[in-house]
Amino acid sequence: MAVHCFAGDMEVEEGLDDWAKEVKAFEETKAGVKGLVDSGVTKVPRIFVHPRAELLKPEVLSEESSGESRVPLIDLRGVEGVERKDIVEQIRQACEHWGFFQMVNHGMDVSVINATLEATRRLHEQPSEDKVGLFSDDSSKKVRLYTVNGSVHKSRPGPWRDALACAYLDDTLDSEEIPQICRKEMEDYVQSIIKLRETLSELLSEALGLSSDYLSRIECMKSEFLTWLYYPACPEPELAFGAPQHSDPTFLTILLQDTIGGLQFLHQDHWVDVPPIPGALIAHIGDLMQIISNDKFKSADHRVLARSDQIRVSAACFLYPSAKNLLKPYSPIMELMSDNNQPLYKEVSPLEYAIYHQSRAMDGTSTLSHYKL
Ligand code: OGA
Ligand code: NI
Repeated sequence: MAVHCFAGDMEVEEGLDDWAKEVKAFEETKAGVKGLVDSGVTKVPRIFVHPRAELLKPEVLSEESSGESRVPLIDLRGVEGVERKDIVEQIRQACEHWGFFQMVNHGMDVSVINATLEATRRLHEQPSEDKVGLFSDDSSKKVRLYTVNGSVHKSRPGPWRDALACAYLDDTLDSEEIPQICRKEMEDYVQSIIKLRETLSELLSEALGLSSDYLSRIECMKSEFLTWLYYPACPEPELAFGAPQHSDPTFLTILLQDTIGGLQFLHQDHWVDVPPIPGALIAHIGDLMQIISNDKFKSADHRVLARSDQIRVSAACFLYPSAKNLLKPYSPIMELMSDNNQPLYKEVSPLEYAIYHQSRAMDGTSTLSHYKL
């Protein structure tokens, strides 16, 4: 396909269909979904309307309808002591059967958690004119606000939420780049995440049957892409998604949600609610971890429902390799291979994987299958 680098603006303008024009007009407001809601919309613009079938199927299992739907909750207290073996076993089971687990007593201070959720709200709720300069669709920017991420997503229904993204490559980001309104909270949060990442890296290595430092040595979780998400109340929640069905193209995602709820994971072909637990964090396996674990650990699809009566905030931290390893090919871990466990995936670099995943644009199909041998 030819890439037209020199198309003049006028030409592009004329070539745009109505959908693209609506997306462009929305983006030019540089006010996000929050801005739409503040302007008093009572109908969801069609660029955010998802096919209803996606919402209705497959059915949602509530906690009451099946004991089996209880999502794994792991208490990390005592992880450095006699409980470690049991905790590792619980993590193994959760990663094999569910692809995610909630954690309590994970060591992150409740004050850091609360400050993060409050700062996320404050950032997104500041006057629109103070956010205009932060909105950008240039994904090479280390810090930016956006709603629709990437050109492929622009041709599909958008999510009903705004995101602040901060990229900490090799655990670092220049302090000056972070909006002042949430700078201290962002820096405290990332330090806590790095500490927790070290713990989880050891526990996941052990749960794979490898030495504790294995995942740390292959540097697959050395960069944090933090996104602080704001899901405004939606006038027609049955038409939109806070986030449509997707998997994360990461090694691991650490998620903090507030008490509103709406996050669901796909488990045995059913959507299961992840009940908010104050102070808890969620760890979920990304596609790249599924690849290197050779399908032992599962990357589960998930989504966020929209709702009409409440604003929701969350903080998602996507863990990727060190900058130098973003282009390094990863493949199923050799130490896990045997006559009965042959590699299921070809090599792929995290960057290539992320780009391919993005091109599929959350359309509900598996990117993983593309890299299967
Ligand atoms: C994501 C995501 C869930 C949430 O941003 O990839 O799945 O609860 N977020 O915000
Ligand atoms: Ni996700």
